[in-house]
Amino acid sequence: MGVEVAVHDLTKSFGKQIIWGDVTLTLPPGEVSVMLGPSGTGKSVFLKSLIGLLKPDKGSIMIRDVDIARCSEHKLYETRKLFGVLFQDGALFGSMNLYDNIAFPLREHTRKSEKEISNIVLEKLEMVGLSGTEKKLPGEISGGMRKRAGLARALVLDPEIILFDEPDSGLDPVRVAYLNQLIIDLNAQTDATFLIVTHDIGTARTVPDNLGMLFRRELVMFGPREVLLTSEEPVVKQFLNGRREGPIGMSEEKDSAQVAAELASLEGAAPPHPMAAPKGGIGGGVPPQIQPSPGLPERKAAGRRQQRVLDMLHTLPLAAQEAIRAVLDQEHQEELEAREASRGASAPSWDSAATQHVSSGQG
Ligand SMILES: Nc1ncnc2c1ncn2[C@@H]1O[C@H](COP(=O)(O)OP(=O)(O)OP(=O)(O)O)[C@@H](O)[C@H]1O
Ligand SMILES: [Mg+2]
Repeated sequence: MGVEVAVHDLTKSFGKQIIWGDVTLTLPPGEVSVMLGPSGTGKSVFLKSLIGLLKPDKGSIMIRDVDIARCSEHKLYETRKLFGVLFQDGALFGSMNLYDNIAFPLREHTRKSEKEISNIVLEKLEMVGLSGTEKKLPGEISGGMRKRAGLARALVLDPEIILFDEPDSGLDPVRVAYLNQLIIDLNAQTDATFLIVTHDIGTARTVPDNLGMLFRRELVMFGPREVLLTSEEPVVKQFLNGRREGPIGMSEEKDSAQVAAELASLEGAAPPHPMAAPKGGIGGGVPPQIQPSPGLPERKAAGRRQQRVLDMLHTLPLAAQEAIRAVLDQEHQEELEAREASRGASAPSWDSAATQHVSSGQG
């Protein structure tokens, strides 16, 4: 099973500016978690703290008995080998072609031969639909392609903890759908622990086992998808439904009078126009989670999460309990059908389906 990441009472500031404080959460081993939050709330700072690139002011980050927040440089170097990270800006080396960029962690951290490295690099390039681009420089490809090259590089060491900072920004909707399937498939195959930052509500609603939300310098909530997707917490509800009405404003915060007025005007108001709905469904309770492609093993993480949700179900409001029971039943049914259908089928390829009929192959 993947590795647990236990964050306790973490606080980070730059000078006098507190980014967030008292953040406590545990990334369950082998599960996919998503961190949400308006721009500037410190999601990227959080990811960088988890791999020890930024030092928190206080608190701990425990990974296999090592506290990332205060361990030695040597321990940090060793522990970092567990991670595969995609930074928000991709962070490719501009003067290296894609092949060398993706081979870099293998050359740096392993004693593999160039032949073995070549096999891995070409396999990962194919996985993200970039076969044939190995000689290109990062400056010669589209933003979406750079993002996918960054994904390939994050995966070459078969990491046990995977951190993706907005892997879907700058990708077209078809590539986002493939990326989401890739995440679920990778998780089914490796049981690695994932933490993904995204602004895509469709992704947030259908991919992760757990959701977290940073807002106003704190972790508003972190827990199983079923619990957040049925939550009445105003910030969580507004964000997961992509609504204007709620505590989050364009400049991140609104004053409380405006929020109260908006919420009052919503009482008894008509539901939002369907065209305004985000991808992944809106308002209708909990959409089913994406299942692994046919032919892949079932995701053990999903079963563990569902059990956790069942254990806490009696503590939730009645409406939430009903919505959750409905989706758990539906997922169970789909899983049985998927297993039935998977006999003999093979997993779809991002490359073939997304690029075969499109001559440009741009991301
Ligand atoms: N190295 C740094 N030094 C000083 N301030 C920083 C540093 N890195 C980030 N910040 C500040 O921390 C805050 C949070 O930044 P962060 O990049 O984590 O936001 P974010 O939630 O990832 O936003 P977005 O969704 O736009 O990517 C910002 O105010 C930013 O200016
Ligand atoms: Mg960011």
